[in-house]
Amino acid sequence: MTVRELRQKYLEFFQSKDHKLFPSSSLVPYDVTGRLDESLLFTGAGMVQFKPYFRGLAKPPHPRLTNSQKVVRTGDIESVGNLSHLTFFEMLGNFSFGDYFKAGAIAYSWEFLTSADWLGLDPNRLAATVFEEDDEAYAEWSKNLPPHRIFRLGEETNFWPAGSFTNGPPGPCGPNAEMFYWTSDTEPPPGAPYTVEDFLRDDADGKWLEIGNDVFIQYEWKGRLRNPARPADGYVKESMDPLPFKSVDNGRGLERTAAVIAGLKSVYDTEAFIPILEKISSLDRSDRSYKYYPEDAPEARAMRIIADHIRTACFCIADGVLPSNTGRGYVLRRLIRRAVLKGQRVLGFEEPFFHLLYDPVRESMNGFYPELDERADVIRETLLNEERLFRRTLAQGSTLLQEELLQVQAGLAGELAFKLYDTYGFPLEVTQELCAEAGVEVDLEGYEKAMAGAQERSRGSSEMDTVYGAQGEPLLLSISSNATTQSTFVGYDRTEHVSELSQISPRFDADGRTTGQFQIALNETPFYAESGGQVGDTGVIESDEFRFRVTDTFKEGGFIWHDAVLE
Ligand code: SER
Repeated sequence: MTVRELRQKYLEFFQSKDHKLFPSSSLVPYDVTGRLDESLLFTGAGMVQFKPYFRGLAKPPHPRLTNSQKVVRTGDIESVGNLSHLTFFEMLGNFSFGDYFKAGAIAYSWEFLTSADWLGLDPNRLAATVFEEDDEAYAEWSKNLPPHRIFRLGEETNFWPAGSFTNGPPGPCGPNAEMFYWTSDTEPPPGAPYTVEDFLRDDADGKWLEIGNDVFIQYEWKGRLRNPARPADGYVKESMDPLPFKSVDNGRGLERTAAVIAGLKSVYDTEAFIPILEKISSLDRSDRSYKYYPEDAPEARAMRIIADHIRTACFCIADGVLPSNTGRGYVLRRLIRRAVLKGQRVLGFEEPFFHLLYDPVRESMNGFYPELDERADVIRETLLNEERLFRRTLAQGSTLLQEELLQVQAGLAGELAFKLYDTYGFPLEVTQELCAEAGVEVDLEGYEKAMAGAQERSRGSSEMDTVYGAQGEPLLLSISSNATTQSTFVGYDRTEHVSELSQISPRFDADGRTTGQFQIALNETPFYAESGGQVGDTGVIESDEFRFRVTDTFKEGGFIWHDAVLE
């Protein structure tokens, strides 16, 4: 069964059980009432948009809904490249708002998974986990599974969202029951006393792979930030009160479930990824296919990272996120740069390539998400601009690292490693690799510390960008919420113009320190860019908040860029 067939079957099954089909929400987490969910950077689960329904604050169009939701999860970016981790995936969901509860949810899950009309999975290859105190869910699963294949586990795995039992995040929550499928070629040994560890493993080599999660939403978790200045410190619990009614949030990762039930070793073997990997292979001058390389070869890993990141990047841009230095834009910028770096360093792609992968992404989605087709030009242009900009700074970053390596004997400062990651987009493992060649270790503790600081900053609003002047003084800039993906030249009849800031990227010196110099793009600009022997315009860009002196203007991608010094 293909990814597309699985999506269709799932949605059909739940519609046949009186669920109404509901569209995916944006990856920018707006809920069904149009409010932005401030507690999240991205939509990370099928239930996010439905929070007002779970809370009884808005009435759903029907008490039962089903959907396939676009999801971005970036907590674990460094794991991407293995066989199962994805930063973008689709989550199939069925939801009950005060309608059926544990018995109904588990019965539907079982019927969908095992009935010959639907997935027809072998019941002897299925297992479940329930929250340790949840006798009711245990009893319901006991109707289908023998006791040795139902496990009671603690809140770390079986109370959703993770951590909400003790330290947040706030929101609707409850105990959950997860379903697992035995993927090994051998049958699961009958009556074997499986250990809890069998169900905690989450990689393609594990014996049991998770293929679904029924969350029994019944509480509102309330807490306050331990330290409002440092959201990363988490929350202090204030209360966990029952919601007005009990609900269900079932979620299944589409690509992963499709791979597991098709007996494929990895999500990258599904047709969600095949066209993308084929395109990447065709760009490889040696024309070697993804399958040519052993699974753990650096080339295969690089191809998987690129294939994952291009999907995330395309969908983020389609939902209006643009690369920047804070918030969602910061995450997007990191993903694009990491992919470009892999392409350049590991696969030897000398020319911009990332935007060429938009077409296979679209092809693999088969029109299911129209926004991907409608915003084709914006997506391609944004990817190309960002890659060009990055390739310009990449050379600087490499020089910085080489120079530093000549000087340090023992360890590379973590802050510098982070700066390379953050500013020049060198993933840690690349810096480590380069350092190892020079016999130098990277100070990981310092790196983590710098990363934690940046993560806090990245939780900030996506419409404000903080830049730093030559003395490191922070300056908040309003980035246009209608930032364009190209600049329009308006200087034929004027030398002054009121416009909005579209993009800004700081320049750093060879030590990775801020210089007070920036490259700025505006939605519309009267500055003439250098071309055909004519030099670029100079002048001033100013607002109530700042004043920049423009020393040069040039064209790159669709943007007209201003080399600017903060005054
Ligand atoms: N929200 C739950 C999850 O993400 C189930 O949809 O696992």
